Amino acid sequence: MPGRESFYLTTPIFYVNDVPHIGHAYTEVAADVLARWHRQRGDDTWLLTGTDEHGQKIMRTATANGVAPREWADKLVAEAWKPLLATLDIANDDFIRTTDERHERTVAAFLQRLYDDGHIYAGEFEGYYCVGCEEYKRPADLVAPAAGEFAGRQVCPIHGRPVEVLQEQNWFFRMSAFQDRLLALYEERPEFVQPASVRNEIVQFVKQGLEDLSISRSSFDWGVRVPWDPSHVVYVWFDALLNYVSAIGYGQDEAEFERRWPAVHLVGKDIARFHAVIWPAMLMAAGVEVPRAVFGHGWLLVGGEKMSKSKLTGIAPNEITDVFGSDAFRYYFLSAITFGQDGSFSWEDLSARYQAELANGLGNLASRVVAMVDRYFDGEVPELGTLGRGDEFILDAARQAVAQANEAIDRFAIDEAVEASRRLVMTLNGFITDEEPWALARDPEQRERLATVLAIAVRGLKTLAVLLAPVVPKAAARLWPALGGEGEAADQDIRVAVEDGGGRVAPLDPPLFPRIELLESA
Ligand code: ME8
Ligand code: MG
Repeated sequence: MPGRESFYLTTPIFYVNDVPHIGHAYTEVAADVLARWHRQRGDDTWLLTGTDEHGQKIMRTATANGVAPREWADKLVAEAWKPLLATLDIANDDFIRTTDERHERTVAAFLQRLYDDGHIYAGEFEGYYCVGCEEYKRPADLVAPAAGEFAGRQVCPIHGRPVEVLQEQNWFFRMSAFQDRLLALYEERPEFVQPASVRNEIVQFVKQGLEDLSISRSSFDWGVRVPWDPSHVVYVWFDALLNYVSAIGYGQDEAEFERRWPAVHLVGKDIARFHAVIWPAMLMAAGVEVPRAVFGHGWLLVGGEKMSKSKLTGIAPNEITDVFGSDAFRYYFLSAITFGQDGSFSWEDLSARYQAELANGLGNLASRVVAMVDRYFDGEVPELGTLGRGDEFILDAARQAVAQANEAIDRFAIDEAVEASRRLVMTLNGFITDEEPWALARDPEQRERLATVLAIAVRGLKTLAVLLAPVVPKAAARLWPALGGEGEAADQDIRVAVEDGGGRVAPLDPPLFPRIELLESA
């Protein structure tokens, strides 16, 4: 569609060695909020997510479970990773698996092109490898614990396990040739890697000097075959990164590729290096435009450490959504944690914020306003009368919330975008408390004033329904028609405050965010 700006957003594709925890869920909901937001701006939006299924880690897991890797992957995708999207209310446009035929074909073609153009050569790899990271490690990347089970050994600090020593004849990608172009990219386009903390780390890393990258393995066979040397399979990261272009038709459907590319990549900071160094170097080698941006968000921590499958510190997302619902999950993680920084989850914090901000905040405000329009105006949303200074202030607060939230989204400051809505809820609640519509209703002389107060409150709440639709889509979808809105909240332009009333209210029963008796045991 000409004139509409493309917004192509990706999540990492997740390893299917295990089931998802709330760290993976965090990335998914953040990506979904950004994508829904851009859809509500009218951008030509595409959200891609999926699974990373090749490599040693998956192969070993499958073998340990007595099944073939493909069978294992099929089971995990069907029983865990796709259901995660339903659990969290993710509106992805596509789901790619690295075992998809469309993907394997693209990987082979891309690699062949780099080979033909002289970017790939045969060499010998000698060094360390962490199967948990699926990453070649430099000695400087490792730690040697003084005590404990792995004392004195070379240990991956992320997985807390000893690395393996490899000596293999492999195919290498001349990544070192792109060092200067990468540094120029970071310099010329500071927004290419975000936030600044991740960008600094990437720049430092590349400045230390880039080595060529081993991009094939021959000691196992679970992967895409190297087209000119079928005794090798493609290194799993080289394979995986290509999902971002294989899913939109690179080399297969040029019109679709032109329409979508370049992407914004949302990842955890643990894998920012792959996305901000290896991936743009691969694209440069192939003569493809680099991504618009790579944003590396922070980690959910447990006891100060990154929550992980391998350390068994994972919490299953549905433990939370079963109690609080998907809207509350989305709202909590995106408002309580500064996006880009690490954060900790606690049941107490979740439950306190749910109660204060959703049940007593937004939910209660909505129920009261709807009930008053119902009672005092027979459900007919009244017209605005003469506006005083205080009224203009409230209407303006809604416009400001909209402007601030949109500006925050452009900076990936999702928490600030939610905060703008939270402040508007408080402003509207204060307005109702001050104006006491229940008192105005007892005085027939104040009929016009009562109408104006409720008309303002309805407009403010409608603006909230629109502004929160990307974050709490289920609640917004109920709130909008309950306020007399026509159509769907998710179809309203998120860049402007709602300036019109009219229509009929409908009772919110049950309330948007019912009280939840917690959970003292958790
Ligand atoms: O790395 N806090 O897959 P993966 C926040 N297959 N986010 C977390 C997290 C935590 N504690 N734990 C995991 C891979 N994540 C590769 C990616 S992309 C071409 C290939 C999220 O299953 C976060 O997004 O290990 C992190 O980057 C990702 O899961 C890693 O998922
Ligand atoms: Mg991982």
